Amino acid sequence: MTTKNGEPISKALEEKLIAMAVKARANAYCPYSKYQVGAAVLTEDGTFYSGCNIENASFGLTVCAERTAMQKAVSEGARKLSALAVAAKSSKPCGACRQVMAEFMPSAAPVFLVNIADDESVKIIRTTVGHLLPRAFNPSEAEL
Ligand code: THU
Repeated sequence: MTTKNGEPISKALEEKLIAMAVKARANAYCPYSKYQVGAAVLTEDGTFYSGCNIENASFGLTVCAERTAMQKAVSEGARKLSALAVAAKSSKPCGACRQVMAEFMPSAAPVFLVNIADDESVKIIRTTVGHLLPRAFNPSEAEL
């Protein structure tokens, strides 16, 4: 158990998560938009998963990098994710990805928005799930 309840993660874990997101970006399948995105998540038990965006000729079937990474973790049995990093030219998770974050991550969980300039220099914005999606409809509300 490395992190829980949205506590900050260590600098070493943060650096590894960000490096994985940047690396995963190279695997993006984006022949239509040509917009490469990479992501990585850290599970509460300390396992890392990465993902990239995966487009489709039927455009609406495109899956974002963030959801690829989260779904890889959940499909391997994880239910609690402690942190997420996303890497792109301008990292701004879409609304669907923010809602999926709210399903599996505490509101205070750190999210690292990694912005990669044309010269490959990197700028990181540190935020949280709760800041990205305030007042989220989350699992506790949906337990009807
Ligand atoms: N995309 C992501 O993977 N994550 C985001 O945060 C925003 C958008 C992808 C979807 C599509 O493949 C491409 O970027 C352009 O929208």
